[in-house]
Amino acid sequence: MILRTIEIKNFRNHIHTKIEFSENLNLFVGGNAQGKTSILEAISYLCLTRSFNANSDSYVLNFNSNFFEVTGLFELQGGHETIIRVFFEPGRGKKVFLNKENIEKFSIIINKFPVVILAPKSKEIVLGSPDDRRKFFDLTIAQSNPAYIDELLEHKKILKQRNKILNAISAGEIKFEQGIDLLEVWDESFINQCAKITFRRLKFLKEFISFFKEAYSKFETNENPEIEYTSKVEANFDDNFDMIREFFKDMLLKLRQEEIKRGMTLVGPQRDEFIFKINGHELRRFASQGQAKSFLVSLAVAKFFYLKEKKSETPILLLDDVFGEFDIVRAQKLISIVGNVGQSFLTSTDLNFVPMFTERIKFKKFIVSSGTVQDA
Ligand SMILES: Nc1ncnc2c1ncn2[C@@H]1O[C@H](COP(=O)(O)OP(=O)(O)OP(=O)(O)O)[C@@H](O)[C@H]1O
Ligand SMILES: [Mg+2]
Repeated sequence: MILRTIEIKNFRNHIHTKIEFSENLNLFVGGNAQGKTSILEAISYLCLTRSFNANSDSYVLNFNSNFFEVTGLFELQGGHETIIRVFFEPGRGKKVFLNKENIEKFSIIINKFPVVILAPKSKEIVLGSPDDRRKFFDLTIAQSNPAYIDELLEHKKILKQRNKILNAISAGEIKFEQGIDLLEVWDESFINQCAKITFRRLKFLKEFISFFKEAYSKFETNENPEIEYTSKVEANFDDNFDMIREFFKDMLLKLRQEEIKRGMTLVGPQRDEFIFKINGHELRRFASQGQAKSFLVSLAVAKFFYLKEKKSETPILLLDDVFGEFDIVRAQKLISIVGNVGQSFLTSTDLNFVPMFTERIKFKKFIVSSGTVQDA
């Protein structure tokens, strides 16, 4: 997949920016606060329908504007040209168009336009809470599997209902028998959703781990990195959906009293964790800063090659300020691994890094200044 052009209107400090990209490396250089990250955010709207930085569409809307618009022209496998247009207006919400057709299910876009992002905030994946890791893997699975987002949303909805009922029984707001009857209405579908998500995660990790180990060995040698999934479900159930289903059914019965006592759901993929380890020790507690950085960069590389194999499209890669965050040696290695395989977009405040690429990787350089972009 290649992003040929982008047109950005009223997005952060970009009032009207048009860019023609290189199909290899695109380098955005400029001082702080000039609008480099904003360009990557706009690209992320085309692939994920949202920013990787901001939690709300209204944050990226230019302060003095009443709409923003991002339009990208992609060349997909086989030369097919596809246009994505994202349009946002406060009060009216966000609309996404794929070749002029209004797409209401954003999971379709997320699945069709694979992207891998490495930005300062990505540090949370290795150093943050279990939820940060679940989010990273859930997105990766969603990008390779169109049904997964809907399954997650359904699970979340049912979990909320279940917790509400458990809480009401626990607080004495409804009668015990009445509560159990209500619970049973939801339990069958809860068990199903839990099993679907756990099944997909276990299956995914089994495949992903080899991509990851391969990537990590390029950054750190003589170390054994691991990603473990801690679920109450046994790992060897990974290829048997029915066994996982039965497991959740048993668990819910076993935990019924405890769940009522505590007024909440005590089992399911929402409580499971992805644990990162190096040589048997948990990364979050024991790893050096360098090891943590290598782990994170390797996750991005592994995700890139995993999605490349799973999808018919090669992902694009967004690298925000990686020289500053992951040091020059790791960033250089990262670019040498993926630079000629796919299209990447890289921001930097420092022009001095540019000569390093000139020999091996084709690139186009852009100067970003006060929300404007010029070919350099
Ligand atoms: N909603 C908004 N409307 C207008 N301007 C905004 C908005 N949000 C952020 N900005 C401004 O847009 C500018 C560009 O921000 P951006 O994060 O893209 O800069 P950058 O070039 O990546 O800088 P750095 O090198 O510091 O990371 C900043 O001056 C920021 O204050
Ligand atoms: Mg920036």
